[in-house]
Amino acid sequence: MKIDFPKDFWWGAATSGPQSEGRFNKRHANVFDYWYEIEPAAFYDQVGPDTASNFYNSFKEDIAMMKEIGLNSFRTSIQWTRLIDDLEEGTVNEDAVRFYNAVIDECLAQEMRPVMNLFHFDMPIELQHKYGGWESKHVVDLYAKFAAQCFRLFGDRVTDWFTFNEPLVVVDGAYLYQFHYPNIVDGKKAVQVAFNIALASAKAIAAFRDTNPNPAGRIGIILNLTPSYPATEKQDDLVAARFADLWMNEMFLDAAVKGKFPQELTDTLMQDGVLWQATEGELELIAKNTIDVLGVNFYHPNRVQRPDVSSDSLAVDWLPTKYFDGFAMPGRRMNVDKGWEIYPQAMYDIALNIRDNYGNIPWFVSENGMGVSNEERYLNEEGVIEDDYRIQFIQEHLYWISKGIAEGSNCFGYHLWTPIDCWSWGNAYRNRYGFISNNIHTQVKTIKKSGHWFKGLAETSILEMPDWLATKWDTIGLELETAQTMI
Ligand code: BG6
Repeated sequence: MKIDFPKDFWWGAATSGPQSEGRFNKRHANVFDYWYEIEPAAFYDQVGPDTASNFYNSFKEDIAMMKEIGLNSFRTSIQWTRLIDDLEEGTVNEDAVRFYNAVIDECLAQEMRPVMNLFHFDMPIELQHKYGGWESKHVVDLYAKFAAQCFRLFGDRVTDWFTFNEPLVVVDGAYLYQFHYPNIVDGKKAVQVAFNIALASAKAIAAFRDTNPNPAGRIGIILNLTPSYPATEKQDDLVAARFADLWMNEMFLDAAVKGKFPQELTDTLMQDGVLWQATEGELELIAKNTIDVLGVNFYHPNRVQRPDVSSDSLAVDWLPTKYFDGFAMPGRRMNVDKGWEIYPQAMYDIALNIRDNYGNIPWFVSENGMGVSNEERYLNEEGVIEDDYRIQFIQEHLYWISKGIAEGSNCFGYHLWTPIDCWSWGNAYRNRYGFISNNIHTQVKTIKKSGHWFKGLAETSILEMPDWLATKWDTIGLELETAQTMI
C-alpha cells in the first residue's frame, strides 16, 4: 500500500534544549538541574542533564545527521535559563544569543525549518524558590518578557513558534502526582498553575503580535492530547471519561484555540472550591490571544472508568482523579518497556476532533514515538540498531493521520520524538526514542534503521506500508507483550 502525503508536509523530529544541550556555559539552573544536584538518586541510573546529548558543542554535526535522514524541520526549545542573564530585567546572555543564532542559521543552511518552543518544563530554580514558579503571576510576566526577547532576537528567521510544551505535565508532575520538582501534592495550587500557564501563553502570544518582525511568523502551543475512551458505555464510565477529557484535553485546548475554558470544567472546579483566581482583564487577554497553529503530542490513549470510591484520591487533597480512574484495556497492545498502550487509531480521532470542534485549525503531530530500553539488543553486524518496531509504529500512526487528512483535517506535519536519543527528566536515558542512537559515554551517534527508512519517506512524501498493517491493524499484535515482537 502507498499513501501520498502533501508535498510540503513537515517531516521532522523534536527535542528540547534541556534534554539535548547539556549545561555548558548556562547561567542559571532549571528545576531539573537543581533537583539532580540535590537528589541524583531520583534520576534513572543517577544520570543527570549535565552533558545530555552534547548539542551545545555538537549541534553542527547533529544537524548534519538530521539532514542525512531527510528531516525538513526540527523542533527544539530556547532555554530561559540560558538566554536570560538577569531574570527580573530580562537582559540577554551574549553567548546564548550566539549559540541560538548559530543553531538557527545552521538549520536554515541545511534547508531545515527551525521550530522553536519557549518552555519545556524548565522553570529557572531561582524563580521557583523565590516566587513558587508558575504559582506566581509575577513569573508569568517574567516569562512574557523572555518570550519577547526571543521574538526580537530570532523572529527574523524563525517563523514557527510555540509557547509551551505539554503544560498539563507541569501541573500533573509538579503539583499532583509527584514526578517533577517541586513534587508538591496540592490540588488548589495545581489548578492555579494551570490557569497561570494558560495566561502566560496568551501573554507570550500578545508579545508576539506586538514585537515579531516577520509577517510569515505564526505561533501556537504544543499539547499532549490523550483521547479518553470509556471502559464501557455505562453512565458512570461515560461521566468519568467526560471529566478526564475536560481536564486532560479541553482545559488547555479550549483556552488556546477558543480563548475560554470549558464552562463544565470551571463549574466543577468552583463547586469543589478549587477554582483559580482570575481577573476580568486576564480572561479578556486569554480570549484575545488565541493560537494560529496547534502542536499535538500523542503517545497513548487514555482508557477511563468510573473512580474507585475507596481510592486514595478521595482521602487526600483535591485530585482530578476523584472523577476518573485508569483502566487496562483487555487485549491491549503494549510497549511494555515504557508501559504505554499502543493505539494508533487515536490519531484519527484526534484529527476529526480538531476538524469538527476546533475550527479545523492547522495542526501537526509535534511528538509521537516509541521509547524502548536497551536497544543494543537489536544491533546488527554493521553496528546499526534494527528498530523495525519503531518503523511499524510510525507507519501505523501515519496511516491513521492520512485518513484524517483525507477526511479534511488540516494536519501539516509529523515529528517523531526524537531525532537523537536524548536525556529525559526522571527517566534519563532509559527509554530511547531517536532515529539516531547516542552512546552517552562517548557521544558517538549512529543512524538507526528507522532513520534510514524515514529518509525515503521524507524525500518522497509517500508512505509505503504492508497492506496487512492497515487492514488488520486491530487484530494484529493483541497478544504481544514486547516491543520487538510487534512485527
Ligand atoms: C514527552 C515530553 O511527553 O515525552 C518529552 O515532551 C519526553 O520531554 C518524552 O522526553 C518521553 O518521555 P520519557 O520519560 O519516556 O523519556
